[in-house]
Amino acid sequence: MADSTGHAVVTGGSSGIGLAVVARLLDRGLGVTVLDTQPMHSRPAPAGGAAIQEFLVDVTDEKAVRKALDDAIEQGGTVPTLLVTSHGIRGGFVPALDLDLDACRRVLDVHVTGTLVAARALVRCMEGAPGGPPPGGSIVTLSSTTAYGGWVNQADYGVAKAAVRQLTQNLAVEWAPRGIRVNSVAPGHTLTPMVQEMIDQGYDVSATEARTPLGRLCSPAEMAAAIEFLLMDASFSTGVCMPVDGGWTAVGK
Ligand SMILES: NC(=O)c1ccc[n+]([C@@H]2O[C@H](COP(=O)([O-])OP(=O)(O)OC[C@H]3O[C@@H](n4cnc5c(N)ncnc54)[C@H](O)[C@@H]3O)[C@@H](O)[C@H]2O)c1
Repeated sequence: MADSTGHAVVTGGSSGIGLAVVARLLDRGLGVTVLDTQPMHSRPAPAGGAAIQEFLVDVTDEKAVRKALDDAIEQGGTVPTLLVTSHGIRGGFVPALDLDLDACRRVLDVHVTGTLVAARALVRCMEGAPGGPPPGGSIVTLSSTTAYGGWVNQADYGVAKAAVRQLTQNLAVEWAPRGIRVNSVAPGHTLTPMVQEMIDQGYDVSATEARTPLGRLCSPAEMAAAIEFLLMDASFSTGVCMPVDGGWTAVGK
């Protein structure tokens, strides 16, 4: 992978927020490796010498994730130091009493275990680099506004996202001595295929827009810009979970 400024891994990079992150990082001249269970239906054009590699992998499968990263390094030659974990699945959006427990376990597994698996695969790759770990490790995870306070019908997804936020803080503290920053964003509603599917199934976003001080949904590109800031530029920030929600969590009533 020919790149002059680094190699980033993006889980869930085939769709939505992850895809927008891939586009921004390619624009910045980085090489990008996408790990996703679905293929990329559209590929952003890499700038300059940047390149993109794609692996069909379930992030909860630790062996498969590690093999994909090893293959990416073998094919590209640079050890990744950057990771955005933008994979995710919807929750059941049903009352806690009606939750199917197997589906609930899967939501927790994908979001929480998958984030841990991807994060430690990155760190293990860095630790195994010839000549020692490269400097400048940085990870951004995807939490959610549903990780703040109690929400109706979010006993699976909201709990998973709160756990991702907590995991981010734990990893930030554990890995700061290695020079690796770990931060999170808490998106408000962002118009991605995940949310479009909810709208298509009858979810009315007008109440969300009305409660959001900025009065609208976020675009994937706006979310990606905030993620890029934490990933690349916020050099003294670690353990932060930054709401990117048009003011949703700032409302005091
Ligand atoms: N869109 C929003 O409003 C919103 C709000 C808060 C948080 N988030 C979070 O942001 C992240 C991205 O969401 P999005 O809206 O872009 O969704 P999306 O559905 O558009 O993209 C998610 C991607 O993750 C992939 N994926 C799912 N399970 C996977 C697995 N086990 N292994 C590897 N890849 C897997 C999917 O194939 C898909 O390409 C998710 O973690 C989501 O929970 C989104």
